[in-house]
Amino acid sequence: QNLPNPAIPAPAEIFGKRINSRGLDLSDSVALGVVAEGREDFRDHRWEFGPGTAVINPANHDDAVGTVAEATKAEVDQAFASASASGWGRYPVGERADILRRAADLYEANQAEFFALLAREAGKTWGDAVAELREAVDFLRYYAEQAEGLIDAPRGPFVCISPWNFPLAIFTGQVAAALVAGNPVLAKPAPQTPLTAARAVALLHEAGVPTDALQLLIGGQFVGGLLTSSTALAGVAFTGSLKTARAIEKAMAANASPHAPLIAETGGLNAMVVDSTALTEQVVRDVLASAFQSAGQRCSALRILYVQEDVAEHTLHMLKGAMDELRLGDPWDLSTDIGPIIDGAARDKIAAYVAERQDRVVHQLQAPEQGTFFPPTVLRVSGIEDMPEEIFGPVLHVATFHGEEIDKVIAAINSSNYGLTFGMHTRIASRVRRLARQVHAGNIYVNRNQIGAVVGSQPFGGEGLSGTGPKAGGPHYLSRFTQAGSALQTG
Ligand code: SER
Repeated sequence: QNLPNPAIPAPAEIFGKRINSRGLDLSDSVALGVVAEGREDFRDHRWEFGPGTAVINPANHDDAVGTVAEATKAEVDQAFASASASGWGRYPVGERADILRRAADLYEANQAEFFALLAREAGKTWGDAVAELREAVDFLRYYAEQAEGLIDAPRGPFVCISPWNFPLAIFTGQVAAALVAGNPVLAKPAPQTPLTAARAVALLHEAGVPTDALQLLIGGQFVGGLLTSSTALAGVAFTGSLKTARAIEKAMAANASPHAPLIAETGGLNAMVVDSTALTEQVVRDVLASAFQSAGQRCSALRILYVQEDVAEHTLHMLKGAMDELRLGDPWDLSTDIGPIIDGAARDKIAAYVAERQDRVVHQLQAPEQGTFFPPTVLRVSGIEDMPEEIFGPVLHVATFHGEEIDKVIAAINSSNYGLTFGMHTRIASRVRRLARQVHAGNIYVNRNQIGAVVGSQPFGGEGLSGTGPKAGGPHYLSRFTQAGSALQTG
């Protein structure tokens, strides 16, 4: 394979100016700087939600962000009992929707605090934190709108289990959908990011959700196991790893009602195909965002880039140059492009994977000493069949293909049996249509990056091993949280 020669000096600029992974220019930075001021009030704040486990900033282990108490078995049992008795399902749907709209307003009024939490608890860069707050608000307003047309009945207590990589947006999306459909909710956020969830729950209560109808149960596998094996649950919404989704499926099959739905969104081995007609500067910018933004900790993130042989050397040369411009560091700093890995266990897993493939490393940046960082890394592979599993971090695999091999590439991508996001860069219109038809993926992006689906416009969710559907932020999502109501028969 004809991969670039690392000795060639790499360009520091694309499109004639220095870019970072979000393509921010000076005017963006000034605007962000003004909005960022309110966040300073929360620089040293400690969020205390009960005695027990301390939450530590992944970018700076000296920064103790707050504490939370883990739920006990008795509390989980009590939560199901009080949720079932909450009467939430009898609230008129219009009232439930109005409560979500009030919550959206409260999220916006408290955005500076969320920006601080997202940076200090979840390691989110400034751009990611702003996008996440907006996505959470969008979910609240979108599901409020969608609910107005609901005619079906609530199912009953829903367990919502959300991941640390979108501790506000995915947490809020699941909870809002279940609630507006009339189901009381027992929410278990990832143990790494309970504080953001606790603030969100406080605001949802303030907006009018009764405390029995939305309860927060903090914990890890033990609490998750109690929640998903309860005979009292009416459904589970889960976003996280495939392994955990399978464990939940098993627990539900053994204990819960066999008809209780599992709405699961899991991972992907997401690919991008770049042919020789692509605009290289645009490819580079979109690969940086897709593979390395959020330190690659998105289920939508690009994991394998297939570049057509004739443009591979040039594309990788440009990519390396742009990578070298990325700044890794504390996400509190507005100039940071790439923040930390969420915790030591996650970082060690990525590091072990790369260490086993050291001979394939084409390019790697340096990680800061403090905190749990892993540097953006490019690995050479022959294809997706060389990738044993999803690696949840800033590791980009690169393969090359000859023009006539494109069908083989698509077949290989489909054979992974995942199907979350797919990206393509090509100027050939017939190829766009053909690939979009052939590739099995929930979200397909053309000549742009492949992350950051927009609520309402780009419903998000995969097929195969990537999820059960329906797509979040789309018109069919709420119906899975309801069941057909009884019909009055006449005549
Ligand atoms: N909805 C998110 C995205 O599109 C999930 O990772 O990036």
